[in-house]
Amino acid sequence: MELDALKEAALQARLRAHAPFSNFLVGAALQAQDGRIFGGCNVENSSYGLTMCAERTAIFRAVAEGAKRFTRIAVVADTEKLTPPCGACRQVLWDLCGDLEVILFNLQGAAETCRLRDLLPRAFDATFLD
Ligand code: THU
Repeated sequence: MELDALKEAALQARLRAHAPFSNFLVGAALQAQDGRIFGGCNVENSSYGLTMCAERTAIFRAVAEGAKRFTRIAVVADTEKLTPPCGACRQVLWDLCGDLEVILFNLQGAAETCRLRDLLPRAFDATFLD
C-alpha cells in the first residue's frame, strides 16, 4: 500500500468533516494489517464536549468493521504547523493499535512521520490491569 493512497483517503475524509463550530476540518486514514483503509473526519456537536475527532472516528469505524491490527495512520489539517492527534486520541489509538506509525501532513505538502510511542510516552494501557 502506497503512502499516497493513505494520504488521499485522509484528504477525502477531511472533506466530509462536520465542523460548523470550529471550521477546523481534520481528516484521518488508518491502515489495517489486512490492507484495508478506514477514513475518519471530525464530527462536532452543539454540546461541544461530545465532538468526535477524526482519528477516533477512524479507529472506531475500523473496530466496528472487524479490523484488529493496524500499521499506520495519516492525519491531515489545513495548518502550517502540522496537526497531531489530541491527547484523548493518542490514548485510544495506543489501546487499540499500539505503536502506530503516525504521518502528519497539511494541504501545502509538508509531512512528518513519527511513532505513537513518542507522542504518548509512558502510556497507561491494559497491561497495568493484569
Ligand atoms: N480535531 C481532530 O479531529 N483531530 C485532531 O487531531 C485535533 C482536533 C478536531 C476536534 C474539533 O472538531 C476541531 O478539530 C477543533 O479542535
